[in-house]
Amino acid sequence: MKSMYDLGVPVPANKSLVARTIKNVTKEQRERVLQETEYNMFSFPADLLVLDFLSDSGTSTMTDLQWSALFHGDESYGRNKGYYVLLDAIRDTFERGDKPRKGINLILTGETNIQKLLDELYLKSFDGGFVNGGVYQLIRPNAFIVPQGRCAEHLLFSTLAEVLKKIDREKKYFIPNNGHFDTTAANIAANRIIPVNLFSSDILDEFPLDQIEIKNPFKGDMDTKKLEELINIEGRGSIPLIYLTITNNTAAGQPVSIKNIKSVQKIAKNSGIPLFFDACRFAENAFFIKKFENGYQNQSILRIIKEMFSYVDGFTISFKKDGLANMGGGLFFRDNGDFHKRFSINGDIGLRFKEKQILTFGNDSYGGLSGRDIMALTVGLYEIVKEPYLNGRIGQVRDFAKKLAQNGIPVILPAGGHAVYIDMEKFFQGTNMKIDDFGGVGFTIELLKHYGIRACELGPFAFEWDKKPPEQRKDIFNLVRFAVPRNVYNESHIAYAVAAITELYHDRQKIPKVKISRGADLRLRHFQTGLQPIYNE
Ligand code: F0G
Repeated sequence: MKSMYDLGVPVPANKSLVARTIKNVTKEQRERVLQETEYNMFSFPADLLVLDFLSDSGTSTMTDLQWSALFHGDESYGRNKGYYVLLDAIRDTFERGDKPRKGINLILTGETNIQKLLDELYLKSFDGGFVNGGVYQLIRPNAFIVPQGRCAEHLLFSTLAEVLKKIDREKKYFIPNNGHFDTTAANIAANRIIPVNLFSSDILDEFPLDQIEIKNPFKGDMDTKKLEELINIEGRGSIPLIYLTITNNTAAGQPVSIKNIKSVQKIAKNSGIPLFFDACRFAENAFFIKKFENGYQNQSILRIIKEMFSYVDGFTISFKKDGLANMGGGLFFRDNGDFHKRFSINGDIGLRFKEKQILTFGNDSYGGLSGRDIMALTVGLYEIVKEPYLNGRIGQVRDFAKKLAQNGIPVILPAGGHAVYIDMEKFFQGTNMKIDDFGGVGFTIELLKHYGIRACELGPFAFEWDKKPPEQRKDIFNLVRFAVPRNVYNESHIAYAVAAITELYHDRQKIPKVKISRGADLRLRHFQTGLQPIYNE
């Protein structure tokens, strides 16, 4: 008899005890709403949808342990108790591997031994890692919590730009990444630094369906040859940071291998350039390493995460993804590490960050989050590294992609950890849809109109193909993304989505071209622009 793990389907990792009714909205009602919201996916009311695959960010179901932690939320202005356990959970998650201390248990169990609380939580000092503790966090702050990922990006790049101006006001600066997320690129560009994408060249390559359980090409890797070229051409002084996004959301959500992280780190070290993660989906990335990279099968997720983070000088993160939390983000850098030393010019860089954090988000112990958010996030960090959860989560995304592929839909294989991406170039092959007709947008409009399913174009419309010079256009993939919220949907939701997408694929001749009717030149335009589908061409 086969074991429970060999049945070819994931072992269920959780069950739902709360249900939310999906409203019965007609096609005509959705059509009216689409018209009045200028056909922009971001403007459509979520309450009227059947399924929402717009984002996996902040949209996940929290676990019972997270909900119960909300009651421990401490809304004090100065040094709420959640702050201490969150910092400890971050040390546990990113630095302690198989030896977490779980300081949170002191709070959840209502510890009343004051000496113990002082020694183990409130006054315990740490230094030399990503999260100084006790007095060291006061004199050399290096951990900054903020409401979400883009706030951390703003904090990092606006502060760096100020420091870089002091070094050389005229110089052109570049930040290379295996794939900048849209807000990351926009935050960098807003500070007059040039974001550079060094995608791996195999992202759109075919991958055999029968191999997806067996191997993974880690298509999210950075092209290290291109990185070396950039450093040789522009010089170390022009590259304040190298950034690796795990998993690589812009490159079809593909994971990054430890092998690649190590190679990038070696190049960074040899060039004296600090290396940072955009760590949004770190646990999902670690799961891919465990499953597919040689030598990691018997290591725990926490140990793999510890190794991944041992190669970087710091990271920005949105806890709205892998944290299972609805809100939260952060910026962390290694105390006395390369980044700390390189940018502490005329004053400690951490103190600069802290000043700006207080100025814009709130004081350092809540950073714009409520005490309840902080507790839910802290518990979430322990939930998401559990292997049965990750197995079920990634299994669901993989099965979604598999079912689409079996129906002939050109989906990127193997799927990454958080989303399924359809290749619109191949989807429209044989029709008269051209790249600047924004067919991917037309597809999302029709999917919403007919079936109440929301997805997101991440292609020529979102990445502004029409406004880019030819040499930058080649880096724009023509994709539509279905981001799967964690622990929200079950097999029936996925089956409905697969049936709807398949039906539209068969009828793709009828998908309209789309024109931008308002705001083509707005920054981050896909969030704001008005659109018009052209039905009668
Ligand atoms: N970096 C990556 C790789 C992301 O995917 C995101 C957000 C961010 C940074 C910014 O984080 O939203 O908390 O400010 N991605 C979401 C998405 C919005 O739908 O992919 P944020």
